[in-house]
Amino acid sequence: MSIEQLAETALAMVAPGKGIIAIDESNATIAKRFAGVGIENTEEHRRAYRELLLTTPKLGDYISGAILYDETIRQSTKDGVPFARLMAERGMIPGIKVDKGTFPLAGCPGEVVTEGLDGLRARLEEYYKLGARFAKWRAVINIGDDIPSGTCIDSNAHALARYAALCQEQGIVPMVEPEVIMDGSHDIETCFEVTEVTLRSLFASLYEHSVMLEGTILKASMVLPGSTCAEQATVEEVAAATLQCLKATVPATLPGIVFLSGGQSDEAATAHLNAMNQMGPNPWPLSFSYGRAMQSAALKLWSQDLAGNVAAAQATVYARARDNGLAALGQWQAAA
Ligand code: 13P
Repeated sequence: MSIEQLAETALAMVAPGKGIIAIDESNATIAKRFAGVGIENTEEHRRAYRELLLTTPKLGDYISGAILYDETIRQSTKDGVPFARLMAERGMIPGIKVDKGTFPLAGCPGEVVTEGLDGLRARLEEYYKLGARFAKWRAVINIGDDIPSGTCIDSNAHALARYAALCQEQGIVPMVEPEVIMDGSHDIETCFEVTEVTLRSLFASLYEHSVMLEGTILKASMVLPGSTCAEQATVEEVAAATLQCLKATVPATLPGIVFLSGGQSDEAATAHLNAMNQMGPNPWPLSFSYGRAMQSAALKLWSQDLAGNVAAAQATVYARARDNGLAALGQWQAAA
């Protein structure tokens, strides 16, 4: 696979005014989301819900791609169209979550490392055949008393780099996601420092593993005060701190950065992205790869009437995609 093809895919993922919808919740995670609104976690409910999301009319106006889960990339619409084909027909790039989740990092209490490297080359080969052109691997960095440790940060960076190199070998654009978790009472300065060290370690590892940055997308967490920190930050403070941290650590050759929402409210996730783009020009396109901040309104509506509320739920998905697409251009305006 040529670097040109990887770069072309990466650039299409962050095309102006477009971003990614993350619908790659594992069966365990979607179980939690469904339980929150009283939906039974069956395979058919998961399939029907992903069909609702992916068949949202005109979703491709603002969505360049979607991240799917292993089960989802093998599923089809009720009329028998595989989701990956449906997406390609609608101009959206299929992506796939390939990590196997987080596990306690031995020797480092309270910290986790993401697993899933064993057998990854063969899985990527199969996912490519199923239509995937980008992948996602999420590392989790927790902030707390005496954590994160350098061992945790470097172990996760090493795994991300090995994953990214394997993806590129198989013609798949790696989305590298080191998520600094917002739970906790830490302040925004602590989040800044942890995010900075995490990104420095990540880009050093990517370099050591000969990962071509031109064919790589960073999925970043924003620099935020912990969710229970007494001193919360303004939209402008979050945007400025996040930009400062990214500019200090992320090479300009990267084709783009997308953000996760991480538990922020829908409105906060959009407002922060919008503010960062208004503060531009920036070295890279800044867009979104939101899960909860794209879906939560739709899931709630759908749960109230699985057969009758499909169109209403899709309307909220479209509205969230449009708001975030505008925020990716710095053109979003909060409702009066
Ligand atoms: P959230 O936007 O809900 O954080 O999910 C994005 C994601 O894909 C995390 O890996």
